[in-house]
Amino acid sequence: MRKFITFALAGTALALAGASSALAQTQLRIFTGGQQRPDVMRQILEGYMAKNPGVKVEVEVGGATSEQQQQYLNTVLASRDSSLDVVLIDVIRPAQWAAAQWAEPLDSYLGADKDATMARYLPAYREANIVDGKVIALPYFADAQFLYYRKDLFEKYGVQPPKTWAELKDASKKIQDGEKNPNLSLFQTAGAPIEGTVCTYLVPLWQLGGNLTDKNGKLSLSADIAKKPFELWGDLKAAGVLPTNIAEIVTDRMRQNYQAGQLVSTMNWGFVWNRVENDADSQVKGKTGVVPMPAYEAGKSATCIGGWQLAVTAFSKNKAEAVKLIRYLSSPEVSKQQAILASHLPVFPDVYTDADVLKANPWFKDALPVVQTARSRPVTPRYNEVSEIIRTNMNSFLAGTKTADAALADMQSKLGTIFK
Ligand code: GLC
Repeated sequence: MRKFITFALAGTALALAGASSALAQTQLRIFTGGQQRPDVMRQILEGYMAKNPGVKVEVEVGGATSEQQQQYLNTVLASRDSSLDVVLIDVIRPAQWAAAQWAEPLDSYLGADKDATMARYLPAYREANIVDGKVIALPYFADAQFLYYRKDLFEKYGVQPPKTWAELKDASKKIQDGEKNPNLSLFQTAGAPIEGTVCTYLVPLWQLGGNLTDKNGKLSLSADIAKKPFELWGDLKAAGVLPTNIAEIVTDRMRQNYQAGQLVSTMNWGFVWNRVENDADSQVKGKTGVVPMPAYEAGKSATCIGGWQLAVTAFSKNKAEAVKLIRYLSSPEVSKQQAILASHLPVFPDVYTDADVLKANPWFKDALPVVQTARSRPVTPRYNEVSEIIRTNMNSFLAGTKTADAALADMQSKLGTIFK
């Protein structure tokens, strides 16, 4: 009997302890996009929860592309909804998030560590995440565009990876003539009306020394250079190097086409490598080279800077715990993990030379200078509008529903009212 009572009491004590630890649990919810490897994020979070038993983190996944994610988030945040504590945002968004007051500024949480913490990141990410002196988010991973190409096919036809657009065209033709495979697409870049298509316009513009705005922030799309990106893509489409359905092509579709062995080369982002080398369905494992984007002149390459940042929402009910979590997710340790598990480019210079990271991604040895010299898309709280004006015009041109002159005139007049 006594034994039974002792057991019963012990059982009650255990149950009570269980209940109180359940009460002490903080629930956090983090939002990420499908392309940003939620599976890898979950794996990283398992490690965090094991070390922090009082915290439970749930992952919400939404939106295949950057602008789709933001459209959804506009609704959630405009209603001041508190269900999301942490949100992964594209590098182009901190200015908008700051202006809308959706992000909890992190300065007071970082306290005396602020400058030292921010100083460790690659300068572009430090700068992108500080808006009007306030830290709006912390970098999760870096990104830039590269040319992924079928090394095996280039070798088979004795062609070097292209340094210029002309070389890309020649190499593509040579491979097509040899392969005679009607299902093999030659080159793809984003052409659908999505965020990536902004870079399809800006990359050639920058390579020619052009820019969207001058140093006073005024629109500087002079007719001559501003028309060249349309001419470049128009020419590659006419030559059959870009596919006829280029206006429907989104980022992950290019990755899928490439991985299925149906695409010779693509202008794409860091995440593609890990998928191509590791996905069970990949037809092209070990057959890929990654080099800087071709340019008009060898050595004058340019690329968009990309990457994803961790913001704590202004409406979170668990801000202190959320900040603790993002500081962890923005650490060199997690940067290394992401590099190995997802070929996400590191935001810390040292991680590029880590032996394990290089083993998983040999091309990272040449990637740092590309990230360091990558250019940023215009920084403005009205980036949503800017993006839409550029990507819809580029898309209409690629679809053949607008001439280059008409697309450019529309861009100039609409962007002119924003950058004035
Ligand atoms: C990548 C980049 C991001 C960019 C997007 C466009 O995810 O990291 O910055 O906006 O691609 O497709």
